[in-house]
Parts: sequence; C-alpha cells; structure tokens
Amino acid sequence: MNKEEYISTPLELNKDVEGISLKSVLEHQKLYEGYVKKTNEIQKKIAEANKSEANAVYSYIGELKREEIFAVNGMKLHEAYFPLLGGDGAAKGKILEMIQKDFGTYDVWKEDFVATGMSARGWAILVYDWKDHGLHNYGMDAQNVGAVWNATPLLAMDMYEHAFFMDHGTNKKAYIESFFKTLNWDFVNTLIEKYGIDKQ
Ligand SMILES: [Fe+2]
Repeated sequence: MNKEEYISTPLELNKDVEGISLKSVLEHQKLYEGYVKKTNEIQKKIAEANKSEANAVYSYIGELKREEIFAVNGMKLHEAYFPLLGGDGAAKGKILEMIQKDFGTYDVWKEDFVATGMSARGWAILVYDWKDHGLHNYGMDAQNVGAVWNATPLLAMDMYEHAFFMDHGTNKKAYIESFFKTLNWDFVNTLIEKYGIDKQ
C-alpha cells in the first residue's frame, strides 16, 4: 500500500479531572497508541498477503481484514474520545440546538445517551446520520461490532472496562456522570463545523 503510516495524536490532557484520573487516561492512551501501531502493521500485512487464499471460515487475509476494522475503529474512536475530557460539562452552541431539535430537550437526549452507555459493552456514540440528517445515540458492543455507515461520530463515550475500572471499579453510572461533568462540548461544535454539518 502506497500511503503514509498513521501517527498517534498526543494526549492534551495533563491533569486529573473530577472522577477521571490522569493516571487512568495515560494508561488508556497507551491502548490507543497500540491501535494506531496495529492499524499500520495490519495494513502493511494486507498489502503483502496472498489474496488467492481468501476464505470466510479461515484465511490469513480474512483474519487481517477482520482485525483491521477493530484496530481502525479503535484508533478513530479514541481520537474522538480523548479531546472530550477536560471541559466544563456545559452543553452549548450548535450541538445544543441540534439536540433540542431532534430530542425535544437536553434531558431527554441525555437520558437516552446514558442508557446507551449503560447497556453498551464498547461505546456509546452520538452521531450525525446523513441518512435522515438527524442525531442518533448508537451503542456498540465492540470496536468492530455495531458501527453504522454514513454517520459521523460527534461524541464518543468509551464504555470498555479499561475506561473506568481504575477510578470507579464496576460503577459505570459514576464514570458516566464524571464523563459528563468534564465533557468538552466545544470540541463537539468544532466537529460540526469541520464536517460542514452546520451547513445542512
Ligand atoms: Fe478505550
């Protein structure tokens, strides 16, 4: 494959935030860097793999293709997650208007998003879906299970145990509340602008 390798985005957070320790985020960043490294490794191996052996039950190229998706989504979703940490938690701007338009009130949206997180084993994601030009809270059981095509993630909440066990043990609810208290909604609004969603 004739492309440059992906490079990890450095972590900007440099202090504890309420309920989410810097120590846990630094460890989490190492997992993210692993996804970036593995994405590069897998894509290099795919370029070199024997395509004629492809088989849906087992083949080397098949396994590479399966794990590529896990690694790529792991890379992209963590890049959507870390910049959300360290904000003031106050929903504002265009995203707040969009939430109110599609869900009625912020509280109705939040109740649904929290329920998505409580029931997801991998990720809860607020997306802008280009199918109906609306917001949806989608849950994923793993990084390669449940991704919806043609939808842009705006707010990704990691619900893998590694995101909360160090600070909260099994208390997912407490982690989610901590996540909301530190949520950087300005980052969500920059994504809306970046992808031209505000022009829709
Ligand atoms: Fe994670």
